[in-house]
Amino acid sequence: MTEQSPALDNLLTESRTFPPSDEFAAQANANADLYAEADADREAFWAKQAERLHWETKWTQVLDWSDAPFAKWFVGGKLNVAYNCVDRHVDGGHGDQVAIHWVGEPGDTRDITYAELKREVSKAANAFASLGLVAGDRVAIQLQMIPEAIFSMLACARLGLTHSVVFGGFSPTALRSRVDDAAAKVVITSDGQFRRGKAAPMKANVDEALDGAESVEKVIVVKRTGEKLEGEVPWTEGRDLWWHELVDGQSDEHTPEAFDSEHPLYILYTSGTTGKPKGILHTSGGYLTQAAYTHHYVFDHKPGQDVYWCTADIGWVTGHSYIVYGPLANRATQVVYEGTPNTPHEGRHWEIIQQYKVSIYYTAPTLIRTFMKWGKEIPEKYDLSSLRVLGSVGEPINPEAWIWYRDNIGAGKAPIVDTWWQTETGAIMISPLPGVTAAKPGSAQRALPGISAKVVDDQAAEVGHGGGGYLVLDKPWPSMLRGIWGDNERYRETYWSRFADQGFYFAGDGAKYDNDGDIWLLGRVDDVMNVSGHRISTTEVESALVSHPTVAEAAVVGASDPTTGQGIVAFVILRGNVAQDEAKGEEAITALRNHVAKEIGPIAKPRQIMVVPELPKTRSGKIMRRLLRDVAENRQVGDVTTLADSSVMDLISSGLNSGK
Ligand code: WTA
Repeated sequence: MTEQSPALDNLLTESRTFPPSDEFAAQANANADLYAEADADREAFWAKQAERLHWETKWTQVLDWSDAPFAKWFVGGKLNVAYNCVDRHVDGGHGDQVAIHWVGEPGDTRDITYAELKREVSKAANAFASLGLVAGDRVAIQLQMIPEAIFSMLACARLGLTHSVVFGGFSPTALRSRVDDAAAKVVITSDGQFRRGKAAPMKANVDEALDGAESVEKVIVVKRTGEKLEGEVPWTEGRDLWWHELVDGQSDEHTPEAFDSEHPLYILYTSGTTGKPKGILHTSGGYLTQAAYTHHYVFDHKPGQDVYWCTADIGWVTGHSYIVYGPLANRATQVVYEGTPNTPHEGRHWEIIQQYKVSIYYTAPTLIRTFMKWGKEIPEKYDLSSLRVLGSVGEPINPEAWIWYRDNIGAGKAPIVDTWWQTETGAIMISPLPGVTAAKPGSAQRALPGISAKVVDDQAAEVGHGGGGYLVLDKPWPSMLRGIWGDNERYRETYWSRFADQGFYFAGDGAKYDNDGDIWLLGRVDDVMNVSGHRISTTEVESALVSHPTVAEAAVVGASDPTTGQGIVAFVILRGNVAQDEAKGEEAITALRNHVAKEIGPIAKPRQIMVVPELPKTRSGKIMRRLLRDVAENRQVGDVTTLADSSVMDLISSGLNSGK
């Protein structure tokens, strides 16, 4: 923990409420009785939700919490996750239903029915098995949003292989550390990806990452950009295989095997408060149960009627739970889009919604604010009347963006679900229920039926209405993480030590109750920044900066940013031998920003880098980020009495003012 306390100064004055229309409520999947039903018997409630899935062998115990904080859900149960997401719907007579309307960035499209999905996943599973992969092996996937990404994840699930998807924008260094940590045997990638109309290399980066990686036996390469990509695709004979050569000729039949409910399904790395990303481990039965349950109720999803679109990338947990596992378990028809929202024009999303008659749209506040900036004239040009539910995830949504979203995208009537959850929680935890909840702009409001969340103070006592503190989850839930890959101690320490006596899971978020007892999330209370909904740790960026030869020391803070939520602001002290003026120049700053992009990925590029003579530290040597945040946000610098040298802040401020 840092010295920083939850952003309680962020006092919220928003008091509008938007009750559901009678019309919506009458047809809604959810009703208010769900809360009481879950409260009456939580385990019975979750057992009922697990019945949404096909179990090869039924469980004997709903929850085993005897080895807390390591949970076991649906103990003794066996299922195949891919069978549940694919074959089951074909067996149920829905093979001709479109599972995925895929839209490529250059405009190519592909409609994939459940029957076709089953064939593709079966072929991929046969191909992976032919490489000698067996249940429990790890497979890393670094792919853009193309169908093969989803086929790969499902083929892994089908074989009991544990996938580790690495966001396509992560640097070779970041990919390598993830491949090594999980000892992945196979890496799946593509030749290149289309980004804003251009073909950019992927395989070349993967090769750079894998140089000398001992665990990796094979690299499977999907051909996506082909001739559009400049230069050769680097190739290692004996290791590299084209996807089409390996997969296309395989049999499209494959018999899935049932795995234990607690069989590892995937690892997904996320930033923590230290430089080393944590491999969050999710397992099968409980995870799929809660992904399907939440997708059904929170989005009011009706299979065969709705067209659903979650704009996340599969590199993040939202893509795992709300593109792949939840929607497919629920037999959704969904849009998957490869590209950026402004390629080739700023109306791309609305054009896609109009074309496919999308009825449920799930995106992030940072994108909503970007749409606001582009102007409401853009969505106005399209027919968005098919939209009936809107979702938001990734960071607190400011009331202004919420209202804009509802008015301009939701025709002033679509309910908005502001969903709070984390990579670690696996699925949505806190959210309004459409058709039930009177929504409040900016508030995630209430834990879902079956979930328990509290706002507590330092002593773990629940705060009263109107009070603020830390968000905790005080009861285990089916899709909770089962640990940090290879590091049980870090798992306990990170999430369960803060409120160890009470056995609360500490989420790392500040929150407050309003006078009705509804929850408002106030952002992270640790050293994790939230930039455009992406979690990046301050330490990670600091380590990247100090790995540059000109930098002696660095401190990084997340400063509020009107579009991205937070922007990364870095303060650096240069090495003695670097002429200050020279390094302060545009070029040197650009070089540092690029260095961070190279080390971590473009998403971690600092918005601003300030060269300073000193950093504010406490007597014990801890950097006081709070003060730097004041500088970064152009505020009066706060209390400096705990600084070892209280003149440091003057030095920093005057240096910055006299600087450029
Ligand atoms: C933040 C993304 C406020 C929060 C699913 C959390 C939110 C972190 C919301 C997890 C929301 C996510 N309101 N804050 N609706 N949703 N967050 O692991 O700080 O990428 O701890 O998972 O995002 O980010 P992660």
